[in-house]
Amino acid sequence: MTDQALDSMVSTNRPGPAIVRNSDGEVSVTLPDIHPGYGDEHYIEHRRWIAALALYARPGDPPSHVAYSDGDRQVWQLVTAKLRDLHRSYATAAYLESLSALQLPSHRPPQLRDVSDTIEKETGFRMTAVAGSIQARTFYESLADRSFRATQYIRHHSRPEFSPEPDMIHEVVGHGPHLVNERWTQLYQLAGDAVRRLQDPRAVDLVSRVFWFGVECGLVNEGGEVKAWGASLMSSVKELTQFRNANIRPLSVADMAAQDYNSHAQQQVLFVAESQAHLEDFLGEFFTTVQDDSPYAVEA
Ligand SMILES: [Fe+2]
Repeated sequence: MTDQALDSMVSTNRPGPAIVRNSDGEVSVTLPDIHPGYGDEHYIEHRRWIAALALYARPGDPPSHVAYSDGDRQVWQLVTAKLRDLHRSYATAAYLESLSALQLPSHRPPQLRDVSDTIEKETGFRMTAVAGSIQARTFYESLADRSFRATQYIRHHSRPEFSPEPDMIHEVVGHGPHLVNERWTQLYQLAGDAVRRLQDPRAVDLVSRVFWFGVECGLVNEGGEVKAWGASLMSSVKELTQFRNANIRPLSVADMAAQDYNSHAQQQVLFVAESQAHLEDFLGEFFTTVQDDSPYAVEA
């Protein structure tokens, strides 16, 4: 098994799809019974093909071309149309500006390679393909090398409003706009640099928590309204319609460190910055200064 295959195996501690390449080189995708695609053999076989493209890629290869199905195209069309409407009401102005720079198609999923090319021209960051969720350290250390590891499959059609795992809609609509903005790629790189210098897994977990509540779920006060900026919120119809009902608190590393989070479920607690600049300063300061012995990284 290659390092790439090892990296691309699901490794979260929560029940998720198991994506494995065995010693004979065969790729299997096993979905847990709570997954919307569980039991849909056609979908699982399609996922297996897409997973194999990533697992057989050589390190540094651009994302392979994916033959998206009619079902994928319908889900992309439906979800991105709903998201476009919601973004107009709930997204920060800076996110909207960056989203338009990506020029995503509305009637079909884009090829990840094309999105990566657009991003690379703007900021030098690239998107590289993974089969599924990966180890936190692998994900962050890629960011340090200005590479964002992204999935290429599309969520199951039976539950288009929310994906329990990061699918291509999440990567492209959620993270894509962040990655065409030079200031925001700086934050991604700082998070990667932080994990690269940290040895203690508890400190890496602290980085993951702050990244989660800031980059994935961050909110910004804009003109007296709470707006969304985080990638996870931006790619979920359900989260965008409901985030204002969450328990919303001011930015605080201590508070973030004390929160349990589950990236497979909707968020109950979110954090809001006083402005876009405040959020960027908060994240930049934390990622630059976090150390193995930082407060909150050590268990009581
Ligand atoms: Fe994400």
